[in-house]
Amino acid sequence: MAKIIVKTERYSYPITIETGLIHNLASFLPLKANDQVMLVTNQTLAPLYLKSLLITLEGNGIKVDHVVLPDGEQYKSLTGLEQIFASLSEKFHGRGTTLIALGGGVIGDLTGFAAACYQRGVRFIQVPTTLLAQVDAAIGGKTAINHAMSKNMIGAFHQPISVVIDLDFLQTLPKSEFISGLAEVIKYAIALDSDFFVWLENNIEDLLARDTTALRYCIRRCCELKAGIVAIDEREENGQRALLNLGHTYGHAIEVAMGYGTWLHGQAVAAGMVMAAETAKLLGQFATADIERIKVLLLRAGLPTHGPDTMTAECYLPYMQRDKKVLAGELRLILPTGIGQSEIRSGIPSHIVIKAIKHSQIS
Ligand code: NAD
Ligand code: GLY
Repeated sequence: MAKIIVKTERYSYPITIETGLIHNLASFLPLKANDQVMLVTNQTLAPLYLKSLLITLEGNGIKVDHVVLPDGEQYKSLTGLEQIFASLSEKFHGRGTTLIALGGGVIGDLTGFAAACYQRGVRFIQVPTTLLAQVDAAIGGKTAINHAMSKNMIGAFHQPISVVIDLDFLQTLPKSEFISGLAEVIKYAIALDSDFFVWLENNIEDLLARDTTALRYCIRRCCELKAGIVAIDEREENGQRALLNLGHTYGHAIEVAMGYGTWLHGQAVAAGMVMAAETAKLLGQFATADIERIKVLLLRAGLPTHGPDTMTAECYLPYMQRDKKVLAGELRLILPTGIGQSEIRSGIPSHIVIKAIKHSQIS
């Protein structure tokens, strides 16, 4: 069993990674008999895993209520949030309650934000069930809902008290969703770790086959990288955590413009990373050969290397200008400076960004 500790100035909590945890989950959670819990999941996951989780929690004397939300990025909204608040209130949950997010990034972000707001803040636990959430969304305390004009626009930093990763969840994950998670995996490698990029080049087929040994190493490495960044920049204040947004400013534009859920988050991030690399190349800081390496790995993973044909390069900008990294009206982008290293850059002229997006579309 792997255990990684996320340690910030004020918080410290474990990420536990193993197989077969679901049936015995209660023993991995910082909960005791008579604790009150609200388990949040969705209509896809409830028939697969809710019963097992209720049995293990209730078997340990924990008082569990649950709320089952509709499935989809479009429910990472005020409506979804309101449903959680209504259930908490109906079942008389007080400040001592703990929310458990059983799901992917959508359920995790939504539940985390509900926990940040309910009675001015209650505890929550992440039980991520997608690759994307296991390597990224469940860790580090970014919680949010979407707004019609921009992704993750309303949210809070609120750290979970524990993250429990059962690799077995990934066996029921649809292929497209698994592949979407690989985009965030590849993001870590491009932004932070060249050795990990080489490991991915050598092991992508094993990952696609969901080989447990490959998954265990990959998820652990991503969690270590994320824990390291969160430890030095929990609230994205000194430019370190922002590096984890490589490809996201372009990708979020795709997600919003196409309508939430049309392009999966990871697909949009994959296309966005190529656009970021093309931007870096136009600025003279990234080699053509490295763009090719990135594109080959994305394609082998089954990910796109350019955005939707229906979006012109020009129509990205209004969405990008609503990005949370915009400072005093100025766009700030995460750009690679090599495989395994990246930086935050501002003052990039719009015509360069547009040209880079066009390059990604034609190359
Ligand atoms: P998701 O939560 O929508 O899950 C994808 C789909 O897979 C859903 O239909 C879900 O019901 C289904 N599913 C989940 N686990 C399953 C399983 N084990 N078996 C079968 N089906 C399963 O999508 P996601 O990719 O996990 O998360 C995307 C979201 O995460 C986006 O909203 C993105 O903004 C957010 N995100 C947040 C952070 C963060 O730091 N907070 C980081 C990255 C992404
Ligand atoms: N997913 C980016 C971050 O957590 O900062």
